[in-house]
Amino acid sequence: MTNRYPPINPKCTSMLHGGDYNPDQWIKTPEIWDEDMRLMKLAGCNAMSVGIFSWTALEPQEGKFEFGWLDTIMDKLAENSAFAVLATPSGARPAWLSRKYPEVLRVRPDRGRNLHGHRHNHCLTSPVYREKTAIINRKLAERYKDHPALLVWHISNEYNGECHCELCRAAFVNWLQRKYGDLDALNQAWWAAFWSHTCTDWSQIESPSEIGEHCVHGLTLDWKRFVTDQTIDFFRSEIAPLRELTPDVPVTANFMGLYPGLDYWKFAKAVDVASWDNYPSWHGPDGDTPLAASISFVHDINRCLKNGKPFMLMESVPSTTNWMEVAKRKRPGMHLLSSMQAVAHGSDTVQYFQWRKSRGSSEKFHGAVVDHVGHENTRVFRDVAGVGEALKKLDAIVGTTVRPDVAVICDWENRWAIDGMQGLGRHVRKYVETCIAHYRPFWSKGVPVDVIDETFDFSSYKLLIAPMLYMLRPGVAERSRSFVAEGGTFVTTYWSGIVDENDLCFLGGWPGDGLREVLGIWDEELDGLYPDDRNRIVMTEDNALGLAGEYDVRELCGLIHSEGADILATYGDDFYAGRPALTVNAFGRGKAYYVASRNSDEFLADLCGRLIADLDIRPVIEAPLPVGVTAQMRSDGVDEFVFLMNFTAGEQKIDAGGESFIDMLAVEPVKGDIRLEGYGLKILRRPARAT
Ligand code: GLA
Ligand code: ZN
Repeated sequence: MTNRYPPINPKCTSMLHGGDYNPDQWIKTPEIWDEDMRLMKLAGCNAMSVGIFSWTALEPQEGKFEFGWLDTIMDKLAENSAFAVLATPSGARPAWLSRKYPEVLRVRPDRGRNLHGHRHNHCLTSPVYREKTAIINRKLAERYKDHPALLVWHISNEYNGECHCELCRAAFVNWLQRKYGDLDALNQAWWAAFWSHTCTDWSQIESPSEIGEHCVHGLTLDWKRFVTDQTIDFFRSEIAPLRELTPDVPVTANFMGLYPGLDYWKFAKAVDVASWDNYPSWHGPDGDTPLAASISFVHDINRCLKNGKPFMLMESVPSTTNWMEVAKRKRPGMHLLSSMQAVAHGSDTVQYFQWRKSRGSSEKFHGAVVDHVGHENTRVFRDVAGVGEALKKLDAIVGTTVRPDVAVICDWENRWAIDGMQGLGRHVRKYVETCIAHYRPFWSKGVPVDVIDETFDFSSYKLLIAPMLYMLRPGVAERSRSFVAEGGTFVTTYWSGIVDENDLCFLGGWPGDGLREVLGIWDEELDGLYPDDRNRIVMTEDNALGLAGEYDVRELCGLIHSEGADILATYGDDFYAGRPALTVNAFGRGKAYYVASRNSDEFLADLCGRLIADLDIRPVIEAPLPVGVTAQMRSDGVDEFVFLMNFTAGEQKIDAGGESFIDMLAVEPVKGDIRLEGYGLKILRRPARAT
């Protein structure tokens, strides 16, 4: 696998810095546009996202186009050595379109049709909407295909939601017909005999709704899959004219992190470069450390969406948003730190929402690089300019990546299945939280991790962690089995191997589909605990992990039987005291661990610490890291770029032994003790270590 990817677009070999830019809100004051250009240079911005919500400004009446203002902006960007991340405007429609063609308006699950307004409120299936977006997109591509400023296509904005209109229903039925062929297969997959839900004609199928069908889990899952496929299909119809006219300009769609409504693993295959919008609420009551680890987790997802290829941090806020519960300002240092956190995990850009605060409407108090005061003498502007300065020193990092030994699975279809089922108690499911809990120990120890879904190739990893692998999608059990047989270490937990891809339970003992043999256990039943209930797991004497003592257990306890696996810990309390709680099974050349209960973070830290040591997994830096500090890295195979990041308010020291680095921001050599200010970071370059 390559270790250096080409830049996002060869037109620009530097890191990109910029943000959502809405010059069409200032058409009547073009002197502001000139001021924008001056300020962009001062802030070190080179990439502005233009035209995201500009449809009415570009096509004020059906078929009547006005590109004058955008021509001026594109030219000004080029004159100032900046680039356009040029948007297609389908994120918000002109009113004339909704008036004339009401079918473009979305229908809610209660089957009521929305009025025109807001944004992101359209039918994904409507042929009229697809036709109108294709027309405006073609016009944009025709006009700017040879423009020196055109760098990346930003397709629509944050695709989300679903439509329950008759057009969408028909498309769903079509999708089901392609998937199942006949109704018999569909009824079997949906276990439709239950409550007399057998469909005897395709016309009886409806999308799920609280006022209608919502308990057939196979249907709900298929609907979610359909919504993802239909969104991708709409996206493809948007990019068709762009592909034809600008085949060399990459396309992206800005994703929303852990948004549950779309399977981003699948969607990512259709984009050239992944991008996402990141809005953490820093300095909250839970502290910055756990939040920082969760944000790193999402950055890692975004790098893995395209198998390690650098992504774009498409939006982030220079100060605070207008929608957070508490609009707490980033403390000094946090803006640079959180921006570089994205770069540390593989982003080749730092972009914001938004460049300049609007005067009116709902985002006028949303953080921006340029505030209503209009000049550069603000704390926020200086912070942004600081990021611009830093990015200019990081050309060598563009296109580099990381190839971790560890992967954590976080699968969207599995998530849908866990969230959609009835059972287990709603508040204790916590699938994504559980994935993050298994990621955090590696983050704290400075061990890079890939976050992947069930469809990935597992073979390049030493350690594969698959928390709550409830739904085994086709081939996953088989690939996990060969992964272990060939020497890999596999860790899974309670509530794994329960259902197949249609949410039909495996018969004959869990974990199903052959995983029982790999793990050497049978999981007979799962005990749910009330919030204040606790159990314990007690490490067995001389266990192979070398762990001693006991750990707290809450919420979920699997009552398992060893069928050949070694017992590493047993329960401490209740009627199952003494029964196995943690096992390891030698299978082929590898090992498979089963964690039967939901254990404390201390347990996960100790378990992962042992596995890191046993498997010779190298942390980024050979030194213990203080709590709240992480180390991440990128490399091109020749050099390594080490990011040491302190997410605590206090100064921290790291004893880097005798290792020498070049500090890329201070541009000076560093050796020995490394000091990080509160919310401080270092980006250090060293020759790649031998593998
Ligand atoms: C989203 C949208 C932007 C803007 C920001 C505000 O990310 O894409 O247009 O509304 O939220 O935080
Ligand atoms: Zn629709």
